[in-house]
Amino acid sequence: MLEHGFGAAPWVEVLMVQPRPRRSVLAVPGSSRKMIEKAKGLPADEVFLDLEDAVAPIAKAQARTEIVDALNSDGWGRQIKVVRVNDWTTEWTYADVVEVVSGAGANLDAILLPKVVDASHVLALDLLLTQVEKANGLEVGRIGIEAQIENAIGLTNIDAIATASPRVQTLVFGPADFMASINMRTLVVGEQPEGYDTGDAYHHILMTILLAARAHGLEAIDGPYLQIRDVDAFRRAAGRTAALGFDGKWVLHPTQIDAANEAFSPRQSDYDRAEMILEAYEFHTSAAGGARGAAMLGDEMIDEASAKMAQVIAAKGRAAGMSRTMRFDSGEASGSVGSSGEASGSVGSSGEASGSVGSSGEASGSVDSSGEASGSVDSSGEASGSVDSSGEASGSVTDPESP
Ligand code: GLV
Ligand code: MG
Repeated sequence: MLEHGFGAAPWVEVLMVQPRPRRSVLAVPGSSRKMIEKAKGLPADEVFLDLEDAVAPIAKAQARTEIVDALNSDGWGRQIKVVRVNDWTTEWTYADVVEVVSGAGANLDAILLPKVVDASHVLALDLLLTQVEKANGLEVGRIGIEAQIENAIGLTNIDAIATASPRVQTLVFGPADFMASINMRTLVVGEQPEGYDTGDAYHHILMTILLAARAHGLEAIDGPYLQIRDVDAFRRAAGRTAALGFDGKWVLHPTQIDAANEAFSPRQSDYDRAEMILEAYEFHTSAAGGARGAAMLGDEMIDEASAKMAQVIAAKGRAAGMSRTMRFDSGEASGSVGSSGEASGSVGSSGEASGSVGSSGEASGSVDSSGEASGSVDSSGEASGSVDSSGEASGSVTDPESP
């Protein structure tokens, strides 16, 4: 569930991201113990063990057993652990849930439910999970739901799906099934359909998922990119949805993990800048800072809207475990901003602003931007899962006192 940790401002509720990131979501067939073992040591933020399209119908029963054993075994890192069950139109869903949660519920973070068409699919899973949790002495409601949007009807009902249960944590795009469901004329998952040469054929779908996620405080996760040998193409695809505001993307191979972690983490310079904006804004709006709504940070006007945008990037950077390389120094004359290797303390705690904020009313410090995307981790290992199928905060400038 959404956790709130950044103070009381009402907009924070909508803009918050979860403290555990899901930048990279590794798909691993539940029938392959070898691949599951390999996945344990990989730096994906989430691993989902698949019982759906990556597992043949005759292998599903055995895969449930493999998954329970694997979840209960040692060697996992900090990954969010998820199992994708089969969808409710099959004969397998209830047994998938009962077996996996009875056998390994304590070691499971969420169930990924594919081909969700309306709220009833989520409700059915919620009710079943509650019974299985109760029957096994597990904390009721802890296991989350990731709802995969894979067809036109699911997209149409997305708000009802997002709000059907407090267990829902993410909305996940399933491009392969989605393209099939709307008769999109292509066989290449993750790239534009040939012949469509204006814009992005997925833009409406992606934005609808993203808006529903943001409206309801959930994470938005992009689906797979199937050309696993072309990491640059993956990077471009991930960069596009990261730029829109998505929180992460599926990865099908270890080589895609670093690229996803990088794409969905802020760049170091943006993270530094975002933290500085928050500190500077807090300082300037305080009594010590002159209680002003708009002020200058370097060459840029900052106000409440800038702080909202900065909060998003700062929260993503914190969730990704990034460290600051700069700090805002409210104690220096005119709010100059220095560069240091350390994270700073809170702004305004230095007491009165010793340096005047300037008779012209603004802090004038400059901010150096430097550094590269960070928050990425080392990749290792081999092929794993298969699958079926900053910018700068700107803000509006309202009534600048003396720009
Ligand atoms: C994933 O499940 C997809 O359909 O793309
Ligand atoms: Mg699918």
